[in-house]
Amino acid sequence: MDSYPDPAVHSARDHRCNSARDRLIVALDFPAASEALKLVELLDMQCQWFKVGLELYIAAGPSIVTTLVERGYSVFLDLKLHDIPNTVASAVRSAASLGASLLTVHASGGPRMLAAAQEAAQALSTAPQLLAVTVLTSMSQPDVTAIGLPRSPAEQVLLLAQMGLSAGISGFVCSPLEVAGLRALTGDAGILVIPGVRPDGSAAGDQQRIATPAQALRLGASSLVVGRPITQASNPAAAASAILAEMSACLGS
Ligand code: C5P
Repeated sequence: MDSYPDPAVHSARDHRCNSARDRLIVALDFPAASEALKLVELLDMQCQWFKVGLELYIAAGPSIVTTLVERGYSVFLDLKLHDIPNTVASAVRSAASLGASLLTVHASGGPRMLAAAQEAAQALSTAPQLLAVTVLTSMSQPDVTAIGLPRSPAEQVLLLAQMGLSAGISGFVCSPLEVAGLRALTGDAGILVIPGVRPDGSAAGDQQRIATPAQALRLGASSLVVGRPITQASNPAAAASAILAEMSACLGS
């Protein structure tokens, strides 16, 4: 199986790779394809990776993914699949045909759901790298307690990551606060994609477990997901440049 359909994914896979461009994923959280593509055009010279999440996917449909892929970008399809094993496996097969490089499933769907998703991906000639979402970066300890979990977010992330690894999944989404622990668990093979990234001075919004781009990279992130600090900036290209410069300085490139 070829899980890595484009060279950029090979870069994202290796957290020691030194290219900031290959390790920044801009979250296209917009209500329409036209707005998303306008930002993509603005960032064309700087960014290779874009994330399509639920808002844009529901509004624009699968064609937004194929459009981005056809234009040569690498796409992280953040659908956070969470359903019975058979349904998630089928959704993985449907999503794979769109050409995205990364696809999320919720680790809390459990071991059989994760295994079914991974088996479905493995059976395809070309499939996205699966990322298991651990604990959402918007959740703090009271939120984790409120859904009945007796652990800290960090403990829950490790438990879910162990479950993912046992199912054969080597990619994970967690907050910057757990990335060091998760890196210790996965070693260099882990693909750790980290949202909750906030440059100094930018608003946290609904994110609870956050860090700066440099901190997240130093802690072991493979790739960083950044949305509002770029998309809501008065000058998105300048905001992306500043983040890429911070990342490059940290990576020594
Ligand atoms: O605007 P912001 O930088 O907070 O965007 C973060 C993006 O990462 C959003 O699209 C959100 O859905 C996604 N995400 C997240 N936390 C996770 C998984 C995905 O914030 N655990």
